[in-house]
Amino acid sequence: MNALPETPRLEIRNLKRAFDGRAVVDDVSLKIMPGQVTCLLGPSGCGKSTTLRLIAGVEMQDSGTIHVDGNLICDTVTRVPPERREIGLMFQDFALFPHLSVGDNVAYGLRKLPRAERHARAAELLERVSLSQYINAYPHQLSGGEQQRVALARALAPRPKVMLMDEPFSGLDNRLRDGIRDDTLRILKDEDTAVLLVTHEPEEAMRMADEIALMRDGRIVQQGAPYNLYTRPVDLASVSFFSDANVIPATVNGALALTPFGRFLAPGLAEGTPVDIVFRPQHLRIDFDRGGRGPLPTAKDGTPARAKVVRARFMGNESLVEFVLDEGGTTLSATIPNVFLPQPGTVMWLTVPRDRCFVFARSGAAPS
Ligand SMILES: Nc1ncnc2c1ncn2[C@@H]1O[C@H](COP(=O)(O)OP(=O)(O)O)[C@@H](O)[C@H]1O
Ligand SMILES: [Mg+2]
Repeated sequence: MNALPETPRLEIRNLKRAFDGRAVVDDVSLKIMPGQVTCLLGPSGCGKSTTLRLIAGVEMQDSGTIHVDGNLICDTVTRVPPERREIGLMFQDFALFPHLSVGDNVAYGLRKLPRAERHARAAELLERVSLSQYINAYPHQLSGGEQQRVALARALAPRPKVMLMDEPFSGLDNRLRDGIRDDTLRILKDEDTAVLLVTHEPEEAMRMADEIALMRDGRIVQQGAPYNLYTRPVDLASVSFFSDANVIPATVNGALALTPFGRFLAPGLAEGTPVDIVFRPQHLRIDFDRGGRGPLPTAKDGTPARAKVVRARFMGNESLVEFVLDEGGTTLSATIPNVFLPQPGTVMWLTVPRDRCFVFARSGAAPS
C-alpha cells in the first residue's frame, strides 16, 4: 500500500506496558514523519528502552497500537513479528560479527537479495559512512568510531522504514562523539527513514532532534521542537532537566505572586496557591552597589533585588556566582561570561527579565 505524504512513517498510540503491576510505559503516543528525528529524552529508568522494545516487537504492549506507514504492525490482537516490521535497530552495545568482514557485516541483513545486489548495497553504504577502504577488513582492525559507523551501515542496509536507536553514542569517546553524531544525522537524513533516538542527555537531544519527546515516569510530559521545550517548559522538572534552575518561592495573591523582584502574573492559579518563579542562571543580571548608591535604572528588567555574593567559581567559559537575596534569603546562581570573581559578602543588585521567568504551581502543593 502506498502511504499518503501526510501519513506518519511511525505512529504509536496510547502504548502501555506494566511490569509487576507498575506502569513503565504509560499511555505513550508519538508520530514521526519520514526523514524526521525524534529524541525520546528522559532520566534513566523512565521507560525509554521499554518503549523502543515495544516498537521493535521484542516486548509486547498491554494495550495501544503501532502503525508503520499507516499499516497496523501491532495491537493486542495483530502482531507482526520483529523481523517483518522493517524496523532497524541500533544499540549502545552494537556487536559486529567478529568473524565476518566489514562488507559481510553490512550485507548481513540482505541475505535474501542476489549476491551482486547485496554487494552493491553494502558498498554503497560503506561509501556513505566513508569506510569503503575497509570493506575486506575485520571489525577488530577498526577504531570504536569506525565500528559504530559500520553498525549504522549494517542497520540501514535493508532500508528500514524506521530506525530505533538506544543511546547509540554513549559508548564512545567524548572527543569523537560530536563528529559521529553529526555524520550519523546526515546519513539518516539521506536515507529518509524515521528515527526514534533514545538518550538521557539533553545536549545530545538538542543536537540531533527535529522533535524532542520528554519522558518522565513512563509518560511523555512534553513534546515539540527543541527550542520550544527549552523556552516553554511545562514544569520545574522540565526546566531542571535541561539546565540548572533558580527557584523563588511565592504565594498567589490576587492573581499575582509577590517576590523580591516585584510582582509576577500568576494567571489561572487560585488564591493562596504556592508557586515557584523559575529561571535559568544565565538570565540573572547583575549590577554593582556603587558604595550604597544602588543599581543603575533598569526599568525594563523589573525591580532590582539586593543580594550578597556567597561564592564565585571560574568554570572555563564562564563564572558561576552564587548569591543570597537579602529579602527572603533565597539562594540564586548566575552564570557570567568570562572571569568574574567577586569576593564573598560583596553587595550586588540582581534583576531578571520577566520574559525569562516561568511561574509554576508548586508540584504536589495544594492551595493553603
Ligand atoms: N522485563 C522487565 N521486567 C521488569 N521490570 C522491567 C523490565 N524491563 C524494564 N523494567 C523496569 O522498567 C523501568 C524502565 O526501564 P527502561 O525502559 O529500561 O528505562 P530507561 O531506558 O528509560 O532507562 C525500570 O524500572 C526497569 O527496571
Ligand atoms: Mg535504557
